[in-house]
Amino acid sequence: MSNVQNYIDSNKEKFKEELFTLLRIPSVSTDSAYKDDVRKAADFLKEQLNNLELDRVELFETDGNPIVYGELITDDSKPTVLVYGHYDVQPPDPLDLWETEPFDPTVRNGDIYARGASDDKGQSFTHIKALEAYRQSGADFPVNVKYILEGEEEIGSPNLVPFIKEHTDLLRCDMVLISDTAMFAEDTPSITYGLRGLAYMQIEVTGPNRDLHSGVYGGAVENPANVLCEIIAKLKDKNGVIQIHGFYEDVQPLSEADREAYQNLPFNKEGYKKDLELKYLHGEKGYSTLERASARPTLDVNGLWSGYQGEGAKTVLPSKAGAKVSMRLVPDQDPKKIASLFKKQVESLAPNTVDIKITEHHGGHPATTDLSFYGLKAAANAFEEVYGKEPLFSREGGSIPIVADFKKVLGAQSILMGFGLNSDAIHSPNEKFALKDFYRGIKTSAKFFELLPEYSK
Ligand code: BES
Ligand code: MN
Ligand code: MN
Repeated sequence: MSNVQNYIDSNKEKFKEELFTLLRIPSVSTDSAYKDDVRKAADFLKEQLNNLELDRVELFETDGNPIVYGELITDDSKPTVLVYGHYDVQPPDPLDLWETEPFDPTVRNGDIYARGASDDKGQSFTHIKALEAYRQSGADFPVNVKYILEGEEEIGSPNLVPFIKEHTDLLRCDMVLISDTAMFAEDTPSITYGLRGLAYMQIEVTGPNRDLHSGVYGGAVENPANVLCEIIAKLKDKNGVIQIHGFYEDVQPLSEADREAYQNLPFNKEGYKKDLELKYLHGEKGYSTLERASARPTLDVNGLWSGYQGEGAKTVLPSKAGAKVSMRLVPDQDPKKIASLFKKQVESLAPNTVDIKITEHHGGHPATTDLSFYGLKAAANAFEEVYGKEPLFSREGGSIPIVADFKKVLGAQSILMGFGLNSDAIHSPNEKFALKDFYRGIKTSAKFFELLPEYSK
């Protein structure tokens, strides 16, 4: 075994402890109460890169959270890999459902439990530790590498898009390497070649100027909660087809080859249902579960509020009702266009008895990587060397908004080398990341860097 892989084997405890230090920092980007912690996480990562004696390490300030940057240029004739990751995390709530504290990482049954363990601190840290293995074991680093770690992915990367537009020279690269997705199943490595985009909307319906007695006024005054439910119910038909005029206009239909590739994936439908404790699955008619969850667009209520929510019953006709609605998008849907079609549709469904306000939250474009891209071949080989299995190629339903911009602005395709699992409970209570995949991730990353020059010739 090489010095590099040896170094990884001999330093597992140290890597784990360092990851734990990072996981103890509650870098929640959506809540300004955590602003200082978000910066602490950035400082920690900057320090990590500083220890590797790179050519350049810098913290770039933005209008929001800082961007951590580092680079090591070994040879201009070698390929340059831009490693992307995010050090911000989702809020940990609901707190009472966590078995151990979200920011006190704990190992149980071989899994690290902590907010950000899988998404994305644990996964992105693998690439820093892989570089460390080269630097500390005295091996030459086989390629050029640039690291860009942001603190705003979970809020739609608002400051990273302008940053990459302003720093195209700095970020010039041959490919982007990202570990922020999931493997197809346990011990089943996979390379993700498609991510969905996102359009996220909010609807607020206002009726009377105050909450009313539902007996005194009910029947004579429009109820905003009823109106909101009626509107939402009209946005999809009984076959799961989204009823927004023009919504499917730019959707690339699945080709026969795409559908066959889906058929060939070892998907365990019974296990999927069992994991969620569901008797039946549901979705757009004519499509398989995997297709519905990654290749077809969606419309889902993410949050819904109105009226009395407390214990017992209160007779009230609410003054206001609201909903947060997300739409996952597929190639070639455009989030701005979809947002405006949504707005038009909802407005057309609203009766004149209420006021309706529709606002747009963050969004992102869908992204794909060409299956023939040589970087994917190097990644596949690296997976095979470490996991002893050829990886599968699959599309995923989640979104990483910056991936499309990397392609558009930098002309670089992304290699989505996920080490997580769908059962990691990202964004949920008890998020976890398998320790063995943390270590195999470091090894796969190191292997990828080693193999890449062969493939770029
Ligand atoms: N890492 C996830 C995206 C992901 C998860 C992709 C699993 C594939 C499989 C990322 O951190 C995330 O949560 N993205 C957000 C988008 C953002 C605009 C809030 C998402 O998908 O909801
Ligand atoms: Mn993520
Ligand atoms: Mn996330």
